[in-house]
Amino acid sequence: MKNKVTKAIFPVAGLGTRFLPATKSIPKEILCLVDRPLIQYAIDEAREAGIEEYIFVTSRGKGALEDYFDAAPQLEQSLKAKKKFDLLKVLNHSTMDSGEIAYVRQREALGLGHAVLCAERLIGDEPFAVILTDDVIAADKPCLKQMIEAHEQTGGNIVAAMEVPPSKASAYGLLDIKEDMGALVSVKGMVEKPEPEDAPSNLAVIGRYILTPGVMKNLRTQAAGAGGEIQLTDAIAKEIEKYDNVFGFRFDGQRYDCGSKAGFLQATVAFALARGDLSEEFMEFLIKMVDTRRAAQ
Ligand code: UTP
Repeated sequence: MKNKVTKAIFPVAGLGTRFLPATKSIPKEILCLVDRPLIQYAIDEAREAGIEEYIFVTSRGKGALEDYFDAAPQLEQSLKAKKKFDLLKVLNHSTMDSGEIAYVRQREALGLGHAVLCAERLIGDEPFAVILTDDVIAADKPCLKQMIEAHEQTGGNIVAAMEVPPSKASAYGLLDIKEDMGALVSVKGMVEKPEPEDAPSNLAVIGRYILTPGVMKNLRTQAAGAGGEIQLTDAIAKEIEKYDNVFGFRFDGQRYDCGSKAGFLQATVAFALARGDLSEEFMEFLIKMVDTRRAAQ
């Protein structure tokens, strides 16, 4: 079995109901933080981590995603003619090479585990990454790169993990910790969205994974779990029973849950403030806005 991680699955077939009505006609992954769609952040992170093949699990109504990665000859010509080379560079950055990107369809939104299983034939017998575009992570070293480096030491399965407040824990998959080694944690169990009294810890799994082909095999026979969905967490947990090779990884970086409105807004503010061309004016506006609100209270 090959050990280098060069393929990543991007499950983008969900319905995105928390962003209705926008997601009635726009895929959630095309929503922008400042001027870049969520999907661009995910692709950039994967590329910097050494990923060479990008597999999208899509569904009906996600055509805008395919167009986003395609060449845009008319636009390119127009920018060239007007000598707008900076914009041309920005445009080219979003274009993927032919053959670099593959799309498979999930016909029915049966859950994240099922979406990952849809990519089985394109993965074969090698470890692979899964990236959830909802989770945008600002980090000096991209989160997936940190995980791939850790994977070179551990092998097996690695899930990105972070402490969450107990009040929010039951919205996540949670790790039952066997041994806490600092950034790395060996795991003896995983529970998806438990009732608060059943939570084994408040160390939650977020949307970055490096998985073994064994997880794919488990998914083939995985029954529906929490929420009636085929859960990726359950298929990873089975590997603990078989091989004891699952690790949590506390990454360095700030994660934004852009699948929720509050998280998306926080990310928008953070990314706008980090932009040299916007920060001054935007910060002035924010301060004024907050002062006015406070004065009115
Ligand atoms: P979410 O649980 O956030 O679901 O899925 P969602 O449909 O995207 O959004 P809401 O909750 O209705 O607002 C987490 C990730 O798993 C993918 C989603 O596209 C998202 O990236 N997913 C989920 C699938 O690809 N297929 C599924 O059947 C379920």
